[in-house]
Order: sequence, then C-alpha cells, then structure tokens
Amino acid sequence: QTNERESMFLVSNFAKDYFHNLMLNTNQGKAIGLSYFKERGFTDETIKKFQLGYCLDEWDNFTKAALAKGYDLKYLASTGLSIVKENKQFDRFKGRVLFPIQSMSGRILGFGGRILTADKKAAKYLNSPESDIYHKSKILYGIYQAKKEIARQDNCFLVEGYTDVISFNQSGVENVVASSGTALTSDQIRLVNRLTKNITVLFDGDAAGIRASIRGIDLILEQGMNVKVVQFPDGEDPDSFAKSHTNAELKEYLETSAQDFINFKVSLLLKDSNNDPIKKATVIRDIVTSISKIPDGIQREVYVQECSRIMDISERVLFSELAQLLKKEA
Ligand code: CTP
Ligand code: MN
Ligand code: MN
Ligand code: MN
Ligand code: MN
Repeated sequence: QTNERESMFLVSNFAKDYFHNLMLNTNQGKAIGLSYFKERGFTDETIKKFQLGYCLDEWDNFTKAALAKGYDLKYLASTGLSIVKENKQFDRFKGRVLFPIQSMSGRILGFGGRILTADKKAAKYLNSPESDIYHKSKILYGIYQAKKEIARQDNCFLVEGYTDVISFNQSGVENVVASSGTALTSDQIRLVNRLTKNITVLFDGDAAGIRASIRGIDLILEQGMNVKVVQFPDGEDPDSFAKSHTNAELKEYLETSAQDFINFKVSLLLKDSNNDPIKKATVIRDIVTSISKIPDGIQREVYVQECSRIMDISERVLFSELAQLLKKEA
C-alpha cells in the first residue's frame, strides 16, 4: 500500500515536470499553453512558482512518454493521468493547461486542467479523480506556497479558484489558498488551523460564491477559529479584482472591506427585509446558530454582545435562544 502510493507520487511528479517543460520548451507548448497563461497576465516567475504546464492536444503524447521512461501503466491509470479503456489509452488532460496540486509538504497529489476554448460542451476544469493520493475534500490548492506566509501574517485568505490563488501571489498577497470550487470541508479548515486561527473568506461575487461563504462560516467557527468575509462586486472574483487594481489598492480593499461574520450575515440577510419583523427574527436565529458553533464560552459572549448591538435586540433574548441551541446540541 505504501509502495503503491509512492509509485503514484513518483509518476505524478514526472507528469508535473513533463507538462511544465513541454509548455516552456516546445513550439506547441509555447504557442498554446504558455501564451494562454501570458494572456491572463501571469509572469514567468509565477508560472515557475506554481509549476504550471500544458498537455498536448494529442491522443497519448504524455502516456507514451511516461511509459518510455519506465513508468507503469497501472499507476498512470490509478492517478487518472491516463485513461485506460480496453486496449486503448489516452491522456486525461489532453489539450488543457495544468495546475499541479501540492500537499502541505510539496508532494504532487493531482492536477486541475483548464480548457482553453469557451467550449460549452466540455467542463471548464477537469480534475484528477479520487485516488489513494488525491482526496478532493482534504486538499487546499496553494497551501505549499502559502504556508510560511500564513503563519507569518497570522491569517489565511480562502478563495474559490486556482487562478485566484495565483493572481493574489502575483499581486504580493501570498497567504492564500483555494477550496477549488468544492464546498469547504472540516478537513480543509484543519489544514489551515495548524498554521493560524484566522481565516478571511473571499468567495466570488455571485450567488454561488455567497452561498458557499455562508456554509463555510459555521465550519470555521466550530474549530474555534475567527472568520472574516470580504465581498467582491457582483461578477468579480479575486483574480479579476486583483488584475484590475494595483497591489496597493488590493491590499487596501482586503483590509477595509473585511467584515466580521456577524456583520456579513446581517448585511446580507437583511438586505431586502425592510424591517420586516419575521425576516429579522430569522436573521437573528441564523446568527445565533453560528454563535452556538463557537466552542469557547467567553468568545460566544462577546459575539452575543456584538449581535445585540448591531441588531438592536436585548442580550437576554439572545442568550436564551443560544442556551436552547446549546442544549439541543448537547
Ligand atoms: N471548478 C472545478 N470544475 C469546474 C468548475 C470549477 O473544479 N467545472 C473549480 C476550480 O478549482 C476553479 C474553482 O472551482 O478554480 C472556481 O470556479 P470558477 O470561479 O468557475 O473558475 P475560476 O477559478 O474563476 O477560473 P477562470 O478564471 O479560469 O474562469
Ligand atoms: Mn488515503
Ligand atoms: Mn464562481
Ligand atoms: Mn472564479
Ligand atoms: Mn476567474
């Protein structure tokens, strides 16, 4: 079992180097893969830092190269790098630019592959399949590059996408990781928890992004961590925002628009309630539910006070609501 995983890591590492070198050193790699990243504004340094690559749009260019180097088809198949069907085999990521996904210690766990055209029939991103080394729910893209800076800044920015992580790095914000479009999991939060107690959630400025932020908040609170939220203008994501602003503007925006989770929920949920008392009651219950997830009693009390102030409702009522929720959970 250990040997099997070891073999999967080895072939994944070979693939990372192969796709990266192919993109930098071959005519097709440069003309298609590299120019895609250049058009998105990524520098050579960034491309190297994240070991970005390209898989030729041919049937089995990579698979053949790996087999010729002595890698076993068994591991090409179990990592999903090659798709093996009956007696045919082909490259999973053919024609896509590649984002290698690394563990905290830098091992290659898998890949995200982006399509180059706006083909509506194919998925925009194709990822490695679940395997003994790639567990989607336990991975945070960018954690290897970010870990030092997360600890140093004592804060972690959490974004949705690969390109959000990369653009932020290029804009000088290096304490950033991505959940890669999945609903945030407790395992992912635990990875950050080893480095800092502070997470700032930065999801896309669309309905899906906002829903994902809300779901993530309670999971973060449950681990006794502090959570803030930065909202982006509708239709923007951290990547597009970083691209259209200077480094200083980006940092200033992150600092000035970070909201405490209570303020975020209040402003979001009360947006169209127009002082409707029923709506207000729902919002308060929602927030108290979040507060009930916080393990530390003193911290819970501080948040109850904050909620009381913002919502203009007595602490007594909030505490009794909280007590009921805590009793139910016990
Ligand atoms: N994602 C995925 N599969 C898809 C779509 C998205 O795995 N079919 C994941 C990717 O990790 C992606 C993230 O969800 O980075 C966020 O999705 P989205 O916002 O749609 O993509 P962006 O990261 O903004 O990518 P781009 O800027 O290249 O469009
Ligand atoms: Mn496993
Ligand atoms: Mn999105
Ligand atoms: Mn996005
Ligand atoms: Mn984007």
